[in-house]
Amino acid sequence: MNLGAGLDTRFYRLDNGTIAWIDIDLPEVVASRQKLQEPANPRRLLLAASVLEDGWVPHVKRLARSRVLFVAEGLFPYFTESQHRAVFAELSDNFPGQEMLFHTSAPSALREFAHLSVLSKLRTRADMQWGLEEGADVSSLNPRVCFVAEYSLLDGYEDSLPEPIRRRLTPDLIRKVAKIVRVRFE
Ligand SMILES: C[S@@+](CC[C@H](N)C(=O)[O-])C[C@H]1O[C@@H](n2cnc3c(N)ncnc32)[C@H](O)[C@@H]1O
Repeated sequence: MNLGAGLDTRFYRLDNGTIAWIDIDLPEVVASRQKLQEPANPRRLLLAASVLEDGWVPHVKRLARSRVLFVAEGLFPYFTESQHRAVFAELSDNFPGQEMLFHTSAPSALREFAHLSVLSKLRTRADMQWGLEEGADVSSLNPRVCFVAEYSLLDGYEDSLPEPIRRRLTPDLIRKVAKIVRVRFE
């Protein structure tokens, strides 16, 4: 289940012929995506909904098999801390035993790069709001969300970054500035 899917094509890349997949995004994004005329597939649903409201949950329950994996890439950094709490409560209430991989950035690392970031040069209202300093902090948002692991998105890619960023990267910043956190809902 892809939360905040945007134009992500992960289903077409991962489909093994048996998985069921839901891409969820806001109605205006889903309307744009529908114009792309993607190949129809009975195992894939494109759902217009906000993950901050609970209307999407029954759709996931209806399609869910015994195991459900949620992914959220480029979504949570734009949520406030209280919105993080709301989504984690919804997921742990409804999907105990299931897992999620989500993208987050440590606030300390974002501050370090704020003035260099390509994002800061874009004319956009989508400001990064909040993130986890450490993946293991996730349980402080909700005790039923258990930290499993975290993975740096930059680890191994330092050489392809612009020089002003590369110069300031410490091992701690590489670990924190963009990462994927894996959690399980209890
Ligand atoms: C930065 S894009 C990331 C898209 C995609 N996950 C990717 O990695 O390419 C963030 C996406 O989250 C969606 N989004 C923002 N708030 C949302 C919400 N409350 N519910 C569902 N989707 C949301 C946006 O419309 C946008 O498509």
